[in-house]
Amino acid sequence: RRLAVFASGNGSNFQSIANAIKSGKVEAEICLVVCDREDAYVLERARLENVDSFSFSAKDYSSKAEFESEILKELRQRDVELIILAGYMRLIGPTLLHEYPQSIVNIHPSLLPDFPGKDAVGQAYEAGVKETGVTIHYVDEGMDTGPIIVQKTVPILDGDTIGILQKRIQETEHDLYPSVLQQLCQQQLT
Ligand code: GRF
Repeated sequence: RRLAVFASGNGSNFQSIANAIKSGKVEAEICLVVCDREDAYVLERARLENVDSFSFSAKDYSSKAEFESEILKELRQRDVELIILAGYMRLIGPTLLHEYPQSIVNIHPSLLPDFPGKDAVGQAYEAGVKETGVTIHYVDEGMDTGPIIVQKTVPILDGDTIGILQKRIQETEHDLYPSVLQQLCQQQLT
C-alpha cells in the first residue's frame, strides 16, 4: 500500500516505519512526507531515505481548506492510499477527511480517551497514574478522538523521571506502529 507520513518534528516514528519497510517487516511504500514546519528534522530524515516531501507554512495560506487542497494534490499525484500521522501537530480538516475516509491513522502517547492533546506523557506523569500507554486510532475531526485500532499499556515505575518514561513510550511506539501498519496494509484491521 502507498503511504504518506505527516509529521511536524523529529520524525522518529517516520524512521521506525521506514526501517521496517527496508527490512521487509512492512509491505508498503512511503511515497511522501508532509510537514508543516520547514525546519523540522523529519525533512532531513526523508531526504536521507530518498522519500519525497512536501513542506508548507500554514501562515502562507488563508485557511486550512487551502493548504489541505495543496496537500491533496500531492497525495493524488502519488496515488497515496493511507495517511499516517506521526507527530503531526494539527487537526485534519474536512478536505482530507472526506477524501480519505477510514484511511487516516494517528499514534498518541497515552491510553485514550485519557490524556488527549499536547504533552500526554507529562499529563500522565503529573497525574500520578501507575500506567499509561500508546494508542493507534483512526482519525476523525476531533483532537485524538476516532475509533481505536489498538492500545498498548506502558507501566510508570517508581523512580521514573519524565525522560525515562518518554523513552519507554517511544520504544513502544516504534514497535507498535510498524506492526499495526503491516496488519492494516494486509487489510486485517479494516
Ligand atoms: C509521538 O510521541 C507521537 O505519539 C506523538 O508525537 C510524537 C512524535 O514523535 N503524536 P516523532 O516526531 O515521531 O519522534
